[in-house]
Amino acid sequence: MTNGSFNIGIILGSTRVGRVSPQIGKWVKEIAEKRGDANYEVVDIADYNLPFLGTTDGSEPGIAAWNEKIDSLDGFVFIVQEYNHSITGALKNALDLAREPWNNKAAGIVSYGSTGGARAAEHLRGILGELLIADVRVHPTLSLFTDFENYTTFKPAELHFNNVNAMLDQVISWSGALKTLR
Ligand SMILES: Cc1cc2nc3c(=O)[nH]c(=O)nc-3n(C[C@H](O)[C@H](O)[C@H](O)COP(=O)(O)O)c2cc1C
Repeated sequence: MTNGSFNIGIILGSTRVGRVSPQIGKWVKEIAEKRGDANYEVVDIADYNLPFLGTTDGSEPGIAAWNEKIDSLDGFVFIVQEYNHSITGALKNALDLAREPWNNKAAGIVSYGSTGGARAAEHLRGILGELLIADVRVHPTLSLFTDFENYTTFKPAELHFNNVNAMLDQVISWSGALKTLR
């Protein structure tokens, strides 16, 4: 479906077998698509078979496809899970494997963990600054204890719905502003 003039990627930060991130990505996409202000798509790092940076000559088609995908997007929503008080290695590697395609774009963060993934999200903000990605203030934080059943089945509290929309409001307005720089 085509809506609006922006392409926003909802990037799943985890790739492990048994991950819950696809449930959160789907939920954000469903909320986003009701807005009719952009094209929203889930972007799954796992689909690209990315090698660990520097362990190959960089000619894998997945690296080129990953860069093309990021280049095609005007903004991002990072679905961020907390691993050892930071982001996943998979997300860091995926961030490191592109450079200019990230630049001068906006991003929002939706995180989860025992403390809402707040520590991972704050680490991500530092990385985004280096990549010239403008991260917005509103940041929905999901609790493993109260927004999931058995830490695996996503059952978000109602209050998060408004937060996701407020975050998307900011991502869309900054995506428009930053498009003028590219
Ligand atoms: C290697 C590893 C480290 C983790 N460290 C933390 C942590 O520091 N803080 C936290 O709140 N949750 C931590 N968790 C729990 C994860 O946030 C939880 O398993 C979450 O579901 C992971 O996202 P995923 O299912 O999409 O992979 C950790 C999980 C893993 C696998």
